[in-house]
Amino acid sequence: MENLQQLENDLLQQIQTAADIKSLEEARVSALGKKGIITEKMKNLGSLSLEEKIAAGKMLNVLKTTIEKAIDNKKAELETLELNRKLSTERIDVTLPIRPENQGRIHPVSKIYEEVAAIFGQMGFDVAEGPDIEDQFHNFNALNMPANHPARQMQDTFYIANPDSTDFDDSFVVRTHTSGIQIRTMEVKKPPIRIIAPGRTYRSDFDATHTPMFHQVEGLVVDKTTNMAHLKGCLYDFVKAFFEVDDIKVRYRPSYFPFTEPSAEMDIGCRKGKGELKIGEGDDWLEILGCGMVHPKVLQAGGIDPDEYQGFAFGMGIDRLAMLKYGIPDLRTFFESDLRWLKHYGFVPLDTSSMTGGLSNNGGLAR
Ligand code: PHE
Repeated sequence: MENLQQLENDLLQQIQTAADIKSLEEARVSALGKKGIITEKMKNLGSLSLEEKIAAGKMLNVLKTTIEKAIDNKKAELETLELNRKLSTERIDVTLPIRPENQGRIHPVSKIYEEVAAIFGQMGFDVAEGPDIEDQFHNFNALNMPANHPARQMQDTFYIANPDSTDFDDSFVVRTHTSGIQIRTMEVKKPPIRIIAPGRTYRSDFDATHTPMFHQVEGLVVDKTTNMAHLKGCLYDFVKAFFEVDDIKVRYRPSYFPFTEPSAEMDIGCRKGKGELKIGEGDDWLEILGCGMVHPKVLQAGGIDPDEYQGFAFGMGIDRLAMLKYGIPDLRTFFESDLRWLKHYGFVPLDTSSMTGGLSNNGGLAR
C-alpha cells in the first residue's frame, strides 16, 4: 500500500496548489468524483480477499477523509482570499461627495413643502395628514357645506362610487381641498390645536395654472382666545419668512368660504413687470391664500364646543407658491416627469430647508 501514501501526497499537493475554486473542484473530481482515483480504488476492493479488503478499505477510508478535509480547508482559504480581494478592489468611500452630474433633484413642490413646514414648525405647528380619497362628510358636510349647498359648485369635484351604496350622498370624492383635515384633526385632538396639513388635492380643471391634481397646505389653530389678530400676525410672519423679504406689504380682502366667518383672502405687494415679478416692491397685489376664523358650525362638527373655543384656518396652493417663488411659468410642466425640467428647476438634495441654515438655498438652485 505504499502507493497509497504516494497517492495521498500527490492529491494533497494538487489541492494545496489549486489557485482558485475551479481548479480545486477539478482536483476534487479527479480524486473523489464518480470516476475519481479513490472512487475507482474503492470499487476494486471487491476483487480482494476478505482480509485484504478490510485492511485496504480502512486505509482508503482514512485517505478519503484526509482528502475531503484538505479540500474543505483549501476551499475556505480560497473563499476568504476571494472575499478580501473583492473587499479591497470594490471598496467605496461613502464619504466622498456625489458626482454632481449624476445627482438627483428635489422637485419644487417637495421643496416648498419643506420650506412651509420649516417656517410653521418653528412657530410650534405639528404636521397632520388625511386621506386623498375622502368621504363627503369630511370634505363638505362638516365644513358647513351640506348637500345641495351652492358652494359645492365652486369646486369641480371628482366623485368616486361607493361600492356599498347607490345613494349619491354616500359616494366618495378625491378631496377638493385639504380643509377636511381640519375636521379629522379636531376629531382626535383637544385644543390647543396648531397644525399644518400638506397634501394632494383634485379638481376637474386643466390649463397653464390649473391641473386636475395639485397641492395645498392647510393651517388650523384653535384655542380659547385665538382671534383675527393672531391670524394676521401668523400669516404675515409666514410670508416674510417664505419670500425672504423683510419689508413685505400684505392686505386682507373680505371673501367667502362656507367654513370660515369672517373669511378673507390675503394678498402680498409686488411689482408685475414684463415677464417679471418682484415680491416686496411695487404697487401691484398678488393673491396667495384663503383664510378666516373657523365657523362655529365647523368646530361643532369636529366635536369642539364653539362657546369655549375659537380658531383660525388658512389654505394655500403649494404649486402656485412654487411658480411664484421660483419663476416657473406653466403648472402642467410640474407633472410631466421630464428630467431636463427637473434638472433645471429642481434642488440639490443635501440643501435642506431650515430657518437657521437658509430656507430656499437660492444659491444652490440647480440652474
Ligand atoms: N379650502 C379653501 C380652498 O381650497 C382654502 C381655505 C382654507 C380657506 C381654510 C379658508 C380657510 O380654496
